Amino acid sequence: MTSLELLHREIAGCRLCVLRQRCRQPVPGTGPPSARIMMVGEGPGEEEDKRGAPFVGPSGRLLRQLSQEAGLDIEHEVFLTNIVKCRPPNNRDPAPEEVRTCLPYLDRQIALINPKVIVAIGRHAMMQFLPDEGILKVHGRPRWVNGRIILPIIHPAGAMRNPEWKPAIRQDLRLIPRLLTITRTSQGEGRFSIIKHKEHKEQ
Ligand code: URA
Repeated sequence: MTSLELLHREIAGCRLCVLRQRCRQPVPGTGPPSARIMMVGEGPGEEEDKRGAPFVGPSGRLLRQLSQEAGLDIEHEVFLTNIVKCRPPNNRDPAPEEVRTCLPYLDRQIALINPKVIVAIGRHAMMQFLPDEGILKVHGRPRWVNGRIILPIIHPAGAMRNPEWKPAIRQDLRLIPRLLTITRTSQGEGRFSIIKHKEHKEQ
């Protein structure tokens, strides 16, 4: 068994917080173990809880559609996971304590998979990497954080309620192939100066 499989087995047996009492099963994540792209959402929804896989419900289908339109092959190129691995009851926001308890699993997944680009999907995922930002302001603006490129995007669940946000998600996802080719320069942590987003100019 690989280290990632062992970790996922550990997550499957986790009882560290109350979320496990109400969900059907933990949803550790799916995708190639050496994916260069990781997408991190908020937490499993009802469909994910039933099937044990992330992003297989309505917002996941929209994410997959927009990714495909942006030229990404999610099944083969992307490791999908969430900030919390168990479904919060009635899809409520995960509580700070639940996030704190679950985050070490994400940290270990990141260390084992070693992705170059982490797509933070929605506000909750973004807050873990870019705590002082607003998703509507920073989506599509990649940053170096701890040696990886963090690309925040609007959550597709939001775009289901506000379809006018779909083009922004698609356009932000289109940055990924270019991000994969970027090598670290002396810029250090923080904002890129070389990426020029069509709609969102660097400040
Ligand atoms: N499905 C997931 O797996 N994560 C989300 O954040 C939303 C839907």
